[in-house]
Amino acid sequence: MSGENNELTPQQQIEVLKTQLAQARTLTALGELVGTTTHEFNNILMTIINYAKLGMRHRDSATREKAFDKILAASNRAAKITNSVLGMARNRTADREPTDLSGLIADSFMLLEREMNKYRIRVEQQIRPTPQAMVNGNQIQQVLLNLLINARQAMPNGGRLLIKLDYNADENMVELVVRDYGCGIPADKLPNIFEAFYTTKQGPDASGKGGTGLGLSMCRDIIEAHKGRIRVDSTVGKGTAFTLKLPAAVKPVASPTIGAPVFVPQIGIPGQTPVVG
Ligand SMILES: Nc1ncnc2c1ncn2[C@@H]1O[C@H](COP(=O)(O)OP(=O)(O)OP(=O)(O)O)[C@@H](O)[C@H]1O
Ligand SMILES: [Mg+2]
Repeated sequence: MSGENNELTPQQQIEVLKTQLAQARTLTALGELVGTTTHEFNNILMTIINYAKLGMRHRDSATREKAFDKILAASNRAAKITNSVLGMARNRTADREPTDLSGLIADSFMLLEREMNKYRIRVEQQIRPTPQAMVNGNQIQQVLLNLLINARQAMPNGGRLLIKLDYNADENMVELVVRDYGCGIPADKLPNIFEAFYTTKQGPDASGKGGTGLGLSMCRDIIEAHKGRIRVDSTVGKGTAFTLKLPAAVKPVASPTIGAPVFVPQIGIPGQTPVVG
């Protein structure tokens, strides 16, 4: 098998290696997630066991109904978590399809909920209704998880993390901002952070995350492959904001009456997303 690569030009070999690196990174991300979700799962099991015991001890229907409600809610949460992890493990293609980014945000926070609580990170969300984005959901979820974990690690004593989702009609891009109020990045280091292997972390932290310096370089590769953009704004001592722009899965067309862009309703706009925070 190793002979196959000899037929390739150096540029092609780089592309093959990049793909392999991305795959290895997916596996690492999966491994980290399994670590996080196993703890979360254990918590859920404790809830289920305790309410099952409660229901067995108390025979009145009110207590039993409450116990069943709690058991059902906990089991549903457990099912969502396994589905999310299994989805990430199964879907390894690079296909792009119209994707609701608010769903990816919700999934990411569900996976990181325990970790954010543990590090006393207060999460605020400002989610506006946007068109779907033309993306590979798995890859964008990995980008999101990387940015959220970086943000969490920038606030070792806890703090505020803001996530915003909006639509830029002029550019027909869906915009996602991950802002933390943590340590910030010195201006002279900003040009380095997207380089592979650039890290200021001393290996994995107590949650087993961080320190390879590959997170942001992978984010940039993924966003560029999507013809999107990633930018960073940071002030030492104040915090850091990463802004992602991803192509919307709708074509804006001029309205015949007022000339303003309207969406072609082929894909639909997710409605009813609450604006929180
Ligand atoms: N939100 C942030 N606040 C402050 N510094 C940051 C933030 N995000 C990234 N950095 C800086 O950029 C560096 C590179 O980040 P990157 O995500 O690529 O690697 P890493 O987090 O160190 O390791 P990993 O490969 O595990 O993600 C970090 O080590 C850190 O110094
Ligand atoms: Mg990182």
